[in-house]
Amino acid sequence: MTSVDLTEAGMAKAAALATERGVSLTTVVADLADYDLGTDQWDLVVSIFAHTPPPIRQRVHRALATALRPGGRLILEAYTPDQIGRGTGGPPVPELTMDLKRLEEELVGLEFEHRAEFVRPVIEGPGHTGDGAVVQVIARRPG
Ligand SMILES: C[S@@+](CC[C@H](N)C(=O)[O-])C[C@H]1O[C@@H](n2cnc3c(N)ncnc32)[C@H](O)[C@@H]1O
Repeated sequence: MTSVDLTEAGMAKAAALATERGVSLTTVVADLADYDLGTDQWDLVVSIFAHTPPPIRQRVHRALATALRPGGRLILEAYTPDQIGRGTGGPPVPELTMDLKRLEEELVGLEFEHRAEFVRPVIEGPGHTGDGAVVQVIARRPG
């Protein structure tokens, strides 16, 4: 398993949690703006609240059709524009959020197995507790 994040602090926390829970994890501090996702490399990509500026998000999403192994999957959850103003976490501006329409445009070449937009309780500590407006996708590279 490989975890990629822009921050040393985030990857240090991930490494500590992995050790605590007996999980083998490679951490990579990198900017997704230029991180090479490779070709036929991943069985599963998990993108949870990965809110980046649109050009970075689009670059990563468009790469998945070749970066995933054939039959590999993306599991994604993110806040939608409806989250703005709820005060329960997430990006401060709608440009950093996602919705199904955008994801369907960006995840070119993947087959959607699950797609949903709804409000659910998100309980993730101080600043991130309460109803959250989210989009969820499970999408598979054919083959
Ligand atoms: C809302 S947090 C979610 C973190 C984690 N997925 C979780 O659910 O706990 C968003 C993360 O995206 C990372 N991030 C933002 N822009 C990034 C970029 N350009 N490249 C890599 N990571 C980035 C931030 O450092 C932050 O850790």
